[in-house]
Amino acid sequence: MNKKILFVSLCTFCLILLLTELNCSSKMTKEEQIARGKYLVNIGVCNDCHSPKIMTAMGPIPDTTRLLSGQPSDLQLPPIDTGMIAMGRWILTTGNLNAWVGPWGISFAANLTPDPSTGLGLWTRDIFIKTMRTGKHMGAGNDLLPPMPWQAIGGLTDKDLGCMFAYLQSIPPIINRVPTPIPPNMIAEKFIKE
Ligand code: HEC
Repeated sequence: MNKKILFVSLCTFCLILLLTELNCSSKMTKEEQIARGKYLVNIGVCNDCHSPKIMTAMGPIPDTTRLLSGQPSDLQLPPIDTGMIAMGRWILTTGNLNAWVGPWGISFAANLTPDPSTGLGLWTRDIFIKTMRTGKHMGAGNDLLPPMPWQAIGGLTDKDLGCMFAYLQSIPPIINRVPTPIPPNMIAEKFIKE
C-alpha cells in the first residue's frame, strides 16, 4: 500500500471513530436506551416532583397509575399565608410535591408523559436536551421556574439525556393539563390567608 492510500485510510478510520463517539447513542438499541433512561429518571428523582402521589403514614409515594403526569389539573391548592413566603422566610410545597411556592410565585411540575397536547408528545430529543442545558422552556422560551433542577440534570451527557427522553416517550401518555405558573403578585389575590 503506498503512503498516500495509507494516510487516507487512517484519516477515514479516525473520522469514523470520531463520528461514532459523538453519536454513541446510535450504538444502543431503542430498548437499551429506554432501560437506561428509566434508571436515570428513577435515580434523578423526577418522580418526586413530577408524579402525583398517594399519601401514606410514611409520607407521599408516587401514584403508579399516572406516573410523571405532573400537578393534577383538578387538584385545589390549600390556602397560603403570604407572609410566610416573603424573601428569607419559607418555601412551601404541597403534600404531593407537585406545586411549589416561593418568591418566584407558584410553579407546577410539568406533565412529562408523551401526551401530545398536555405533555411532551410533540417534543424532540434535541428540544429536551436544549431545555436541560439552557433552563428555558423548549430550549428557547421562558426561564424554567424553581425548583426544577435543570442545572444538575443538564450536566448529563447528550447520550444520557437522549436515553432519559427515550424513556419518557415510552411511558403511557396521560392527558393532564398542568396549571400555568402563578406570578408572585397574583398569589395574594388567588389565595386568601386562612
Ligand atoms: C424539585 C422538583 C423537581 C424535580 C426533582 C424535577 N423537576 Fe422538572 N420541573 C419541576 C417544576 C416545578 C417544573 C415547572 C417549571 C416551570 O413552570 O417553569 C418542571 C419542569 C420540567 C420540564 C419542562 C416542561 C415544559 O413544558 O417546559 C421538564 C422537561 C422537566 N421538568 C423534566 C424533569 C426531569 C426529566 C426530571 C428528573 C431528571 C425533573 N424534571 C426533576 C420540578 C422538578
